[in-house]
Amino acid sequence: MQSAATVPPPPGEPPGGIDVTTPDLYADEARLHATFAWMRAYDPVRWMEPEGYRPFWAVTRRADVVEIERQHGRFLNAPRAILALEEVVEAVRAFTGGSPHLVRTLVHMDEPEHRVMRGLTNAWFLPANLKRLVEPKLKARARQSVDHMLALGGACDFVRDVAIWYPLRVIMDVLGVPEEDEPRMLKLTQELFGNTDAETRRNLGEAGDLIAVVLDFYQYFRALTEDRRRQPRDDLASVIANARIDGEPIGDIEAMGYYTIVATAGHDTTSSSTAGGLHALVQHPDEFRRLRDDPSLMPLAVDEAIRWVTPVRHFMRTATEDYDLRGRRIRAGDDLMLLYPSANRDEEAFEEPFRFKVDRSPNPHVGFGYGVHLCLGHLLAKMEMRALYQELFSRLDWVELDGEPAWVASSFVGGLKRLPIRYGLR
Ligand code: HEM
Repeated sequence: MQSAATVPPPPGEPPGGIDVTTPDLYADEARLHATFAWMRAYDPVRWMEPEGYRPFWAVTRRADVVEIERQHGRFLNAPRAILALEEVVEAVRAFTGGSPHLVRTLVHMDEPEHRVMRGLTNAWFLPANLKRLVEPKLKARARQSVDHMLALGGACDFVRDVAIWYPLRVIMDVLGVPEEDEPRMLKLTQELFGNTDAETRRNLGEAGDLIAVVLDFYQYFRALTEDRRRQPRDDLASVIANARIDGEPIGDIEAMGYYTIVATAGHDTTSSSTAGGLHALVQHPDEFRRLRDDPSLMPLAVDEAIRWVTPVRHFMRTATEDYDLRGRRIRAGDDLMLLYPSANRDEEAFEEPFRFKVDRSPNPHVGFGYGVHLCLGHLLAKMEMRALYQELFSRLDWVELDGEPAWVASSFVGGLKRLPIRYGLR
């Protein structure tokens, strides 16, 4: 068994070395996947000591990601849920009076607290409720979005014109945020998630950025909570605002954490998967035609799009005891970075992982994570993507690139930020 200090350097690292913390790496899909392929082959559980960050193990194989997530009592979320620069963590600690998290949400919690908090909204995200309360409006939103796109003529930037707005509208409908507040929410969710990208960030430096964004959210959602306590409706904000924990009304901070995770986690992730799935279909015209001509493939195609894009690049876990993983000795207190995009191209788990197949089955991707923290909104996200693709592919005859696509530079939530296309109707 090798400890971090005795791991020998593996043979011939790829040009430019390996640093999975660099946001720019995630804006270059070819380099990203070449890096991950090399890591899976030669150093699948790799000790990393990047400048500015606390060291951690980078986990790149699907089986290892699942092995860690399955043992949620041994590998915790709370100490370090997401990769952050040490200087940012220090600024946040100074601001919060000691906590490393600006907002505490489900992803920062462990059992038994996590189960209690998740239990408040679990039922809301089950199929029967989504079908009744969400699907009719969602389908209308999908139709409106495609109408808008087609009204632009035979060309558009699919990200800017369709993909960022549609999931935002759906998640705001789910929460109960009125349409006129959507531009503010868009800016906030993008800054919170993609804030290492120069095009979308505020100009305050990273820690200042985050704090300003979170304060904006806090103000907004406090007013929403008060409103839903006075006048409950059938939206998710009413469920959250009126939730009780151990018989007591949910606190402002906890409610705020909930709104934040739903608003942010439910937006950029789904837009990235929707746009990235379309990009994959543009690159694989045979697969596009198969899907266009056989809409019954839609559920499989949506899962394949999520595997292909994997917009959530990582979450972290912290070991509570020594543990052996694929020949490496993880020490109690060590952090692990679970690299989902790598796990979803793992040659040991997927046949031809670098081929986009609209009918891939089985498709054991971990794009939504695994275990007790499995994405709360995974059924909603898939319902959204299915509705939009159904609407789109029932009207499009062909689609092709109309310029260079571009990706967000972020090691947390990423995906396309530009997808210029042209298309013809049936
Ligand atoms: C958690 C991915 C859409 C809400 C997560 C996790 C991933 C993920 C990887 C972490 C799971 C883990 O630690 O094992 C995605 C992707 C989406 C998507 C790829 C779109 C394609 C949504 C939507 C919502 C949502 C629409 C709306 C409510 C959440 C919440 C959590 C979460 C609340 C925290 C769950 C917990 O810690 O218990 N998601 N997500 N996500 N997601 Fe999603």
